[in-house]
Amino acid sequence: MITIIGAGKVGGSAALHSAIKQLDDQILLLDIAEGLPQGEAMDLNHLLSEQGIDVEISGSNNYEDMKGSDIVVVVAGAGRKPGMTRMDLLKINAGVVKDVVGNIKKYADNSLIIPVTNPLDPMAYITYKTSGFERNRVFGMGGMLDLSRFKQFIHEATEEDELNRSSRKVIDAIVIGEHGENMLPLTRFAQISGKPLPTIFSQEKLDEIFTKTKNVAAEVIKLKGATVHAPGNAISSMIQSIVEDKKQVMPVSTYLDGEYGYSDVTIGVPAVIGKNGVEKINELDLNQDEKEWFDKGVNSVKSALAGIDI
Ligand code: NAI
Repeated sequence: MITIIGAGKVGGSAALHSAIKQLDDQILLLDIAEGLPQGEAMDLNHLLSEQGIDVEISGSNNYEDMKGSDIVVVVAGAGRKPGMTRMDLLKINAGVVKDVVGNIKKYADNSLIIPVTNPLDPMAYITYKTSGFERNRVFGMGGMLDLSRFKQFIHEATEEDELNRSSRKVIDAIVIGEHGENMLPLTRFAQISGKPLPTIFSQEKLDEIFTKTKNVAAEVIKLKGATVHAPGNAISSMIQSIVEDKKQVMPVSTYLDGEYGYSDVTIGVPAVIGKNGVEKINELDLNQDEKEWFDKGVNSVKSALAGIDI
């Protein structure tokens, strides 16, 4: 069973994408808001019936119902309002996440946990520490969303250039670092059909793609109040790599123990995701500039955590 804790906008979308991809035959939406998870489950089941998809979605306010879950997504808590950074949510959501993780330990002690609540990297750290789970079993979703935005801006750049027009399918890229102000879309490592991005675009264009990727979430929030579908889909892609044991390399926020030269911090790095969760962390050979960005992200996560009682 897949359990999604937080049946709001992103939780509902994650359930929808996971059901359409038939990642399990049972998906549970859990929330403290009475009626919300039940209503969301009904709405989604109606859609699945019309589609002829045999996945049952249920909604509950009772943590006991998650007993025996294999995968638990934590997307409960407050979201950003226009003008807020992800870090502004820190204190409110730390309490929510600790409470939720206590229940996961109680009812789904063998599960893999995917934290999503923002600020993502500190929440992934709190989840890892308070769960006591092995580090391969806790890995947050943030980088996969940043990556979907990065790929879209690469795609848009190719659209402006007749000789380099390309389908979205042949774009290969990675985003690492903090899911926040210091994220690191690695233009140097991105490729279109095997051709490195820096051989296709000017430095100015690369810088533009980098900056847009970092800032676009705030723009979506300003325009429509929240980001919904892209995160919901990104969560389902991570679940898919687990349940199908795809061993896909994905950016996830996981606990570092010496990798990239850091320990005791949780931040986005590329990792092989399979049935055991994080099966390997890939270390990229970063240049000085990239190391500095990564370092800023690590410092930001560490200083956020310094003010929190874990
Ligand atoms: P939302 O407000 O639509 O839904 C949040 C839900 O959490 C609400 O239904 C609320 O009742 C529930 N909740 C609050 N405390 C709870 C508790 N203790 N136990 C169970 N449920 C509880 O918010 P939305 O837009 O779905 O976002 C949820 C979180 O995900 C936010 O923190 C947001 O910033 C984050 N987010 C993270 C992304 C990422 O890439 N990591 C992307 C998009 C959102």
